[in-house]
Amino acid sequence: MAFVRKDHFHKKAKQAGLRSRAAYKLEELNKRFHLFKQNGKVLDLGAAPGGWMQVAAKAVGRHGRVVGIDRLEMDPLPFSQATILLGDLLDPIVQEQALKEMNGPADCVLSDMAPNITGIRLTDCARSHELAMIALNVARRCLRTGGAFVVKIFPGDDLEDFRKEMKHSFRKVRTTRPEATRKTSSEIYIIGTQFRGTEEHTPSKETTSGH
Ligand SMILES: C[S@@+](CC[C@H](N)C(=O)[O-])C[C@H]1O[C@@H](n2cnc3c(N)ncnc32)[C@H](O)[C@@H]1O
Repeated sequence: MAFVRKDHFHKKAKQAGLRSRAAYKLEELNKRFHLFKQNGKVLDLGAAPGGWMQVAAKAVGRHGRVVGIDRLEMDPLPFSQATILLGDLLDPIVQEQALKEMNGPADCVLSDMAPNITGIRLTDCARSHELAMIALNVARRCLRTGGAFVVKIFPGDDLEDFRKEMKHSFRKVRTTRPEATRKTSSEIYIIGTQFRGTEEHTPSKETTSGH
């Protein structure tokens, strides 16, 4: 059954000219949580090969802005509102570059970042948690009050701590697994909406690197 689902979304994405089947996850999340608005600004962390950027760029339109960053190179996208940066977000300098490129408050920050899978559950979950914390701290620094944040995480022992961190910064925090997620994957998405703003949030850790 997992193969049927994989083929279905893979084929559908190819036919639609989408760069990843993951694009359907974001479309579903946008339908449910109203993440994007016309002319809005979006930061996409871990953006390659660019499926989420395609969805976000279409949603914000020509006068919006989508900045995508990945440690892997990506082919340019045919949207004037889309900018691609190359860099590893574990590096605080790269985090600063992403924030600088945004040049002003974002309406939405996305993170589909995933570590290289080792198959050792504890290691994979810990690395995923580290990436999610980095994304959350970048989001805290660039979201406008009321903005939204979507982050992928492999749930492990740190999941509840992470959800608590999210609740410091967002009035609503939901956990979901979109339909297009591969059945074999343990990944979930945490969605924070109604960002409280930089004044109000009181994170217990003010790290930028997650180390
Ligand atoms: C599942 S893919 C993202 C797919 C994308 N949302 C799409 O629709 O095309 C995860 C990406 O996270 C990136 N990534 C993982 N760790 C990263 C890091 N430390 N810095 C930058 N990118 C990272 C990987 O290179 C990979 O391209």
